[in-house]
Amino acid sequence: MRTLPDLRPGVTLLRRVVTLLVLTAQIALGAEPPKPPLAAIASAYPQASEAGFEILAAGGNAFDAAVAVSAALSVVEPRGSGLGGGGFYLLHRASDGHEVFVDAREVAPAAATRDMFLGADRKPIAGLSTDSALAAGIPGEAAAFAHLAAKYGRLTLERSMQPAIKLAREGFAIYPRLVEDITRKKPALERSPDARRIFLNKGEVPPVGYILKQHELARSLNFVAEKGAEGFYHGAFADKLVAGVRKLGGIWSHEDLANYRLIEREPLRGAYHGARIVTAPPPSSGGVALLNALNILDGFDLARLDSVTRKHVILESLRRVHRDRAEYLGDPAFVKMPLDRLLSPYYAAGQRASIRLDKATPSDLLPGYIGDVSSGVSTTHFAVLDREGNRVAATITLNAWFGTGLVIPGTGILLNNQMDDFAIKPGEPNMYQLVGAEANSIAPGKRMLSSMTPTFVESDKGVAILGSPGGSFIPSMILLGTLNWLDGADATGIVTAPRIHHQYQPDMVFAERAGLSADERSALEERGHKIRDWPATIGNMQIVTWDYASQTVVAASDPRGAGKGLVR
Ligand code: DON
Repeated sequence: MRTLPDLRPGVTLLRRVVTLLVLTAQIALGAEPPKPPLAAIASAYPQASEAGFEILAAGGNAFDAAVAVSAALSVVEPRGSGLGGGGFYLLHRASDGHEVFVDAREVAPAAATRDMFLGADRKPIAGLSTDSALAAGIPGEAAAFAHLAAKYGRLTLERSMQPAIKLAREGFAIYPRLVEDITRKKPALERSPDARRIFLNKGEVPPVGYILKQHELARSLNFVAEKGAEGFYHGAFADKLVAGVRKLGGIWSHEDLANYRLIEREPLRGAYHGARIVTAPPPSSGGVALLNALNILDGFDLARLDSVTRKHVILESLRRVHRDRAEYLGDPAFVKMPLDRLLSPYYAAGQRASIRLDKATPSDLLPGYIGDVSSGVSTTHFAVLDREGNRVAATITLNAWFGTGLVIPGTGILLNNQMDDFAIKPGEPNMYQLVGAEANSIAPGKRMLSSMTPTFVESDKGVAILGSPGGSFIPSMILLGTLNWLDGADATGIVTAPRIHHQYQPDMVFAERAGLSADERSALEERGHKIRDWPATIGNMQIVTWDYASQTVVAASDPRGAGKGLVR
């Protein structure tokens, strides 16, 4: 019997090229970029969204507002991000369509070694990569603030950081979620005298409404505002950081700080059902996972599938892209990644062909990933759209709740625990139960692989500015959000939708309570999926959508969190 060649991957490729050409041509032909009727900011805390609007009202653009929101979040949402951490900023400049991915990810200190978190028995030492000062990478936030202000902003760094400095100095009323966060992290916060003094009230978790003032942090923010990145990474302030981290048991050096470099990267681009996707490149795994999953799903008619089969193929796609994450992805400066292959529709067609509609594929049946080895929710995301059409999608982080929970003495700065995002040993799950191997092993100066996926999805219908914290869950959330948006949901619909997730290992479906109906659950179990009810909620999405036809701008904050979307 003669079999006909499968033309679908070619058609997908053609469709993708045409979409990209049309959208690029619109810009090149000078089609006036549309302007939104109103500006919008969604962030994880109302006062951070307000800080952004204060800066827009003062004549700043979306990039200045991004500095203001980030700096304010470091004060009012200390569990999520801050000067002691790093993050990614995806920018779109309306005047010329310029899009760039600002990588302010932490790097491993020069004294870091591949096996630094393993004991003599080669087993991970409990807590070392998460709770100790060794867990801290060299932070990138200060570099990001200075870069955004100098290269893309309209106001000075000093002006854009003022709302945050005021919040730190004058204090703000502690909200219920923060009380929960401090309660949860109390044992870790108690270990460092500065953290205990700042976040606890006479040794106890402060009540809702308690005014939290952070004088040292105000001074540190003010220092960065006045002196920029130079002030943070060099001189007296760097001395204080290095001495403080070493006192806490860490290994930072002056050279580590002086050598820190923020990197501007080309975003990853793809197309799906007429929409242009602009997303995070490595050292995030999120964009690769998102585009690869969309390529796999492109061969299914999702709109016609019953809800169980639709969820099944989404989960099977996620399983496959996370398998590749474990094997291939890492810091591009250290590993050669087969990105062309991973993003090719032909590769996706092969992955799709291995998906059975009636049966889950056990993860162990996928090719092993350790092969040739020779030897919650914290973090935060926000979305900004200004009235000129400039956009920012930013996901910034200390990694886990309050990072290590350690505060660098005298600075009010919480120390990240991003080193746990490396594969500390091949096959050893990290705190998000993600596995990895050689590509993401620890090396001095190397960026640890991330799942953070700030993304723009744009079609002739409008644009969505997407992102969320949530560790390994992030790419799945962005995938579901993209599909929801293409199905007609706006920001509110996307943030409220229930979530499901698969990450290859552990071989199970993670589901929020509302993520699967009883019928869907038993049908998926019949197909061989193991389902784990996730006791907490998944993620804290902050999204802005702008519908071109109706000129409706929506900023929505996840009901799972305490944030706020504002449109003005
Ligand atoms: O970069 C990453 O992928 C993680 N450090 C993000 C951590 C995170 O989202 C925590 N939230 N639950």
